[in-house]
Amino acid sequence: MTTMESLIGLVNRIQRACTVLGDYGGGTGDNAFNSLWEALPTVAVVGGQSSGKSSVLESIVGRDFLPRGSGIVTRRPLVLQLHKMEEGTEEYAEFLHLPKRQFTDFVLVRKEIQDETDRITGKSKQISPVPIHLSIFSPNVVNLTLVDLPGLTKVAVEGQPETIVEDIESMVRTYVDKPNCIILAISPANQDIATSDAIKLAKEVDPAGERTFGVLTKLDLMDKGTNALDVLEGRSYRLQHPWVGIVNRSQADINRNADMMLARRKERDYFDTSPDYGHLASKMGSEYLAKLLSKHLESVIRSRIPSILSLINKSIEELERELDKMGRPVAVDAGAQLYTILEMCRAFDKVFKEHLD
Ligand code: GDP
Ligand code: NA
Ligand code: MG
Repeated sequence: MTTMESLIGLVNRIQRACTVLGDYGGGTGDNAFNSLWEALPTVAVVGGQSSGKSSVLESIVGRDFLPRGSGIVTRRPLVLQLHKMEEGTEEYAEFLHLPKRQFTDFVLVRKEIQDETDRITGKSKQISPVPIHLSIFSPNVVNLTLVDLPGLTKVAVEGQPETIVEDIESMVRTYVDKPNCIILAISPANQDIATSDAIKLAKEVDPAGERTFGVLTKLDLMDKGTNALDVLEGRSYRLQHPWVGIVNRSQADINRNADMMLARRKERDYFDTSPDYGHLASKMGSEYLAKLLSKHLESVIRSRIPSILSLINKSIEELERELDKMGRPVAVDAGAQLYTILEMCRAFDKVFKEHLD
């Protein structure tokens, strides 16, 4: 394992620990763990409904595993942690809430995301800010953590509370407002970029375009005789990072269960043979996007090591005080949990210091 790979893995573990503690991101607890959660970089997937968010995530993973349907399918944030494994390793998935179970059937992964969503939100069409954590271990992924969020909408549909539109927007904002959030802004190429929900929000929270990655989906669905070069070459809306064009599976491909690996190859062919985008081909497509994000996330984490370290030390001090108050040896569950997290923090501290040298 290279140094850079293990950094993303480490941050994954801290993020999971913060979740287990249960008072991260907007929680009531004003403690060091909360500040730590705030300081960790995340990649949030943002866009309007049907802009292609799920499809982009599935292309990045190379697997078909997200619930789909009409309306608001993603009703809780999904923290998706990708772990690159050696060639030949069998792919599997694991949920934080089911630590003992390894899923090799991705149909069951989809079902579990649905069931776990319903468990918290009821079968209503409510949304909840409590994230689901899913890890995927596979030779076909890069090391990367992404958060899938509910799609931005403009109107509440039947059965949904009137406030749903604002509720979704404020949930998305709790992520993208964080200065450490990397925004993966998804816009469909068959709509005017000026009307993109993703760009509208990104423009507001990141006006300089420093932490926004623009992704343009549905290039294959543009009207004949038009192309998206103005967007992809940064003339329509300028970002510090280059725009990435994507061709995901169409609804017809999904209906006939088209293979994801085949879809990746078809996407590659699309760019390689495209008269419009041929000159950009090496910087287009979902595989390129995954690599670009992984590299960027690694470099952001690297630059934040000193501040993450100091927050970890504060967390350790806080946990130690907490444990002292409880008196040791700790018998109750809460104490045991804090103790486990404390041990984890000490381990991070050690490894991070090694990375600094
Ligand atoms: P989400 O609501 O943002 O998660 O969007 P989905 O990923 O579910 O996509 C919505 C619909 O658009 C689905 O029918 C997809 O098959 C289709 N779609 C997404 N991206 C593309 C694309 O690049 N090309 C084509 N032809 N269809 C796409
Ligand atoms: Na959009
Ligand atoms: Mg979706």
